[in-house]
Amino acid sequence: MFENIKNLPADPILGLMAAYRKDNNPHKVDLGVGVYKDEEGRTPVMRAVKAAEHHLLATQDSKTYVAPAGQDSFNHHIANLVFGKRLNTELGGRRVTFQTPGGCGGLRLAAEFVQKVRPGARILVSDPTWANHIPLLGDAGLRIETYPYYDKVNHGIRFDQMMDALSKAGSDDLVLLHGCCHNPCGADLTQQQWQAVTELALQNGFTPFIDMAYQGLGDGLDEDAYGVRLMAESLSELIVVSSCSKNFGLYRERTGALSLITGTQNATAAAASQIAATARGMYSMPPDHGAAVVATILEDQALNNDWQAELQQVRSRINDLRGALVKAIAEQGVDQDFSFIQAEKGMFSFLGLSVDQVHRLVNDYSIYLVDSSRINIAGINHNNLPYLASSIATVLKD
Ligand code: LMR
Repeated sequence: MFENIKNLPADPILGLMAAYRKDNNPHKVDLGVGVYKDEEGRTPVMRAVKAAEHHLLATQDSKTYVAPAGQDSFNHHIANLVFGKRLNTELGGRRVTFQTPGGCGGLRLAAEFVQKVRPGARILVSDPTWANHIPLLGDAGLRIETYPYYDKVNHGIRFDQMMDALSKAGSDDLVLLHGCCHNPCGADLTQQQWQAVTELALQNGFTPFIDMAYQGLGDGLDEDAYGVRLMAESLSELIVVSSCSKNFGLYRERTGALSLITGTQNATAAAASQIAATARGMYSMPPDHGAAVVATILEDQALNNDWQAELQQVRSRINDLRGALVKAIAEQGVDQDFSFIQAEKGMFSFLGLSVDQVHRLVNDYSIYLVDSSRINIAGINHNNLPYLASSIATVLKD
């Protein structure tokens, strides 16, 4: 049965993570996988998470099953975080939220649900998009096509071409949008652009499917949710997948959520029954620990405040590093203008290097980044910045 299986190359992002771990170069720099790192290069457990874990350890008195939808309190609080309390209350029974095994689990659950109710539906994704969107959505059976998004030469959004492509999408189509902190390019829609896309969805009837993996890492928890909330309040149908990997630092705990809004409470209840059956058929129930931690934090004002304060520090550090990188590269006498990096949001930006230049950084300098030249800004610190900037300058000049 298994003798003729083809060997697959490692996932480009996870393969890089493994190669970095093996590298003995003391100057190595990890700008690959999208994981937050502090000045010391550590990915710390957030203070509020540690406190919530202590509380759970002391008080949790059962490990019995919860449900395919996960914990009600987690789902309620996550919906408040994503949609804001007022809007979430207004949405009432038109909105349902499912706790999922990370954002990836949420994306796949949503795709399997759509495939069940609309087999072979088309989903338009941005060019470029996060590489793992393709298997997560496509392997469920959705038909993936792209719309123009990032202009790698001028470092901006190709908004006219994007709108032109989306104007051809109709009521049988989904459109995947990055809620904030676009992965991989860091270029987000402006509020006016969100309004225009929302208008188009209203006119043409396509269903937006928003991946909100980085809420709180761009401009703020509420600011980053502008597009999601605008669409949730304006449209009758919407899918939103959110993640607690980055904003709560819960990566390996696999904590995320799928929220669905439909036009009526009855339609949402029917959809919820399908989503529950889909989850049951894939993994039965989501893992509990990360969601229990998040629910504990969001239920407790003091923990919530502390979490938000630490998240604010994470956000400021990333934004400061953006400025510091632009300055450090310019100080190396590089002609190209890298100031676009400062204007972009979240963990990622493209350096705009060729694949050959990227490979030189990886192989000659132990600076790890994916072939597209996407870098994880949070992997930079004031120790490795001079080495990084001079290595980038060298490969650009050669
Ligand atoms: C990334 O884009 O690096 C992160 O979302 C981590 C991952 O799973 O790829």
